[in-house]
Amino acid sequence: MKTIVKTIDPDNIDYKIIDEFGKMLSDGKTVIFPTETVYGLGANALNEDAASKIYTAKGRPSDNPLLVHVSEISQVYDIVEFVEDRAKLLMEKFWPGPLTIIFKKKPIIPDRTSGGLDTVAIRMPSDKVARKLISSAGVPIAAPSANISGRPSPTKAEHIISDMDGRVDGILIGGACNFGVESTIIDLSGDTPLVLRPGSITLEMLRDVLGNVEIDPSILNKDDNINAKAPGMKYKHYSPNADIFIVNSDDKTGAGTKKVADKINSLVNDNSKKGLKSAVLCLNKNKPLYNAIVYGLGETYEDVARNLFDVLIELDKDNIDIAYSESFEEVGVGVAIMNRLKKSAGYKIILAD
Ligand code: TXA
Ligand code: MG
Repeated sequence: MKTIVKTIDPDNIDYKIIDEFGKMLSDGKTVIFPTETVYGLGANALNEDAASKIYTAKGRPSDNPLLVHVSEISQVYDIVEFVEDRAKLLMEKFWPGPLTIIFKKKPIIPDRTSGGLDTVAIRMPSDKVARKLISSAGVPIAAPSANISGRPSPTKAEHIISDMDGRVDGILIGGACNFGVESTIIDLSGDTPLVLRPGSITLEMLRDVLGNVEIDPSILNKDDNINAKAPGMKYKHYSPNADIFIVNSDDKTGAGTKKVADKINSLVNDNSKKGLKSAVLCLNKNKPLYNAIVYGLGETYEDVARNLFDVLIELDKDNIDIAYSESFEEVGVGVAIMNRLKKSAGYKIILAD
């Protein structure tokens, strides 16, 4: 398949390009486009055949439902049975932005899009290019992350083009993905709202609006994953070819950081004797502690969320065999970071104490 690739400047949008790609979408074709979280692989959410093309391009299991993107809140009412008050509050507070809400779907959403469920996951992205594109297409756009199924979600143009050129009809490159990890998913079907996938809209932020909010307990450890309420959370995910380990200390002081570094340095040393190339993922300030190839994840947890997937993809480009990551505290966006990191590590955690 010949893929049309174009770049658009989000600060000076070329509407000819938007309309060209919008028409591809309304014609039932597949287009990769930027969002504020990760790039999405989009197609018309109301068109069964178009939605099928997404599964083929990604190699995605067909029981894993697609996430639907809208450009305006009013579009939600066309595709869902009802919008309860808590959903209205969340849309008002967090849309446009990285929050996905699960609704009861209308029949207009085909089974192919909803993975056979009677619900549909919807979000309105804050990325301007994404919203203009959806609005030009004139239909809601189903778009999972634009990675081959199981691999880290891409946030950089070069990663998308190297993986997806030839698999989709169009690739629209835009500005930076500001948040990095994929959107928070919330399910309001029970009395207590449940976070099915943690993201940059944190539990704390959701509790400020709704009061009690819990996290789907089955995503917190490996053995329960099979029961995850968001089907995508149960699959092997975010996996580079490199073998990832998380190294943790119960001591959260500087002494704990030093213990983690000593442990990693000794593991790296053992590996190099075996001819294995190892690397370290850490906060930038800790880089000097390591005698190894080091990938700085940034200064803040927001930086780590933004950079994590890029770094995981880079490990493969650099032919790393084993990578050790520092651990992050599970508060705020740290919950989302650790969720993605644990999945990419296959839940392998080494205690440095
Ligand atoms: O930030 C994001 O959410 C990105 C960008 C492109 O918007 N999209 C994204 O889509 O991460 P995807 O398909 O990779 O992840 C959607 C997740 C999957 O785990 C899927 O199983 C879950 O949402 N999901 C979709 N529909 C659902 C539903 N009706 N009920 C429960 N989970 C659902
Ligand atoms: Mg995904």
